Amino acid sequence: MDVIQFMQEEQRKHGGHDIVGLMENITAACRKIATAVNRGAFVGMMGSAGSENIQGETQKKLDIVTNDIFTEGNQWAGHCAGLASEEMDDPYEIPNAYPRGKYLLVYDPLDGSSNVDVNISVGTIFSILVSPNDKPVAKDFLQAGVKQVCAGYALYGSSTMLVLTTGHGVNGFTLDTNTGEFVLTNPNMMIPADTAEFAINASNRRFWEEPVQRYVEECVKGKDGGREKNFNMRWVASMVAEVHRILCRGGVFMYPFDTKDPTKAGKLRIMYEANPMSFIVEQAGGVSSTGRARIMELQPEGLHQRVPVILGSKNEVDRIVGYHTGK
Ligand code: AHG
Ligand code: MN
Ligand code: MN
Repeated sequence: MDVIQFMQEEQRKHGGHDIVGLMENITAACRKIATAVNRGAFVGMMGSAGSENIQGETQKKLDIVTNDIFTEGNQWAGHCAGLASEEMDDPYEIPNAYPRGKYLLVYDPLDGSSNVDVNISVGTIFSILVSPNDKPVAKDFLQAGVKQVCAGYALYGSSTMLVLTTGHGVNGFTLDTNTGEFVLTNPNMMIPADTAEFAINASNRRFWEEPVQRYVEECVKGKDGGREKNFNMRWVASMVAEVHRILCRGGVFMYPFDTKDPTKAGKLRIMYEANPMSFIVEQAGGVSSTGRARIMELQPEGLHQRVPVILGSKNEVDRIVGYHTGK
């Protein structure tokens, strides 16, 4: 079954917000991005664009191209009141030529873009909120994750997949490149509560707080330390790929608070990385926390605000949260 039919049936079954039309635009944009990522080398789209985004990160050409694809594809149909992206300092105003709708769409058009030149999986992350008015400004986007109507990601890997939730579980769709359909291939994805796999960028080790030091140390020691099992480790450096792996076989992913740059609360951004991924993870039976608080309950204070992220298999994340809170 195609994702649009699936969404239509889900809407009929559960009611709530009608996002079928918006999903048609989002899936069309993801298909275009899949092609852009796949064909980048043929059309001179690999490498750096020579510019920086608001967070001081060097933009890749494909960061800009994919941002344009996602923005243009979602501005014209009258579903959105406003758009906001990792790659734009301020919210994008829907041009007056187009009708305005009720939704806010927030996105990371190309997640894991450091991987794009080396042919490792990248993705697109999106979050849908309801706009409080038809001419939204930045503060209208600053809604807690629990307010999300839908969250999803596209993964441009060995196949292109779309994984999403509207609050009724998590479903995965694979792009059939012959027909252009995203076909339901992974219904009702669930994260096992237990795991023996963790993901963290260990080069930041000396900057971590004690609870994360303790947890990773115990995993590395495995049966020779206090744990009942040995652990495996992965780090792709594409959050989309890490979350997808966790949805498929369990695991825990951490980009925790660290003291590397005291002005930054973490690396990942709450509005278009942490919140949508937290919604998906929780809907799949997992847990998502800063270590001290449920991410989806935080009140965002800026469009590009960063937050520590610890998410995945319930029993492991609960353990890490326990190390932070002493409970
Ligand atoms: P983006 O490419 O959108 O800036 O996001 C990259 C993020 C995330 O996907 C990944 O988990 C993390 O940055 C990797 O960071 P390190 O390079 O520090 O490992
Ligand atoms: Mn990202
Ligand atoms: Mn990005």
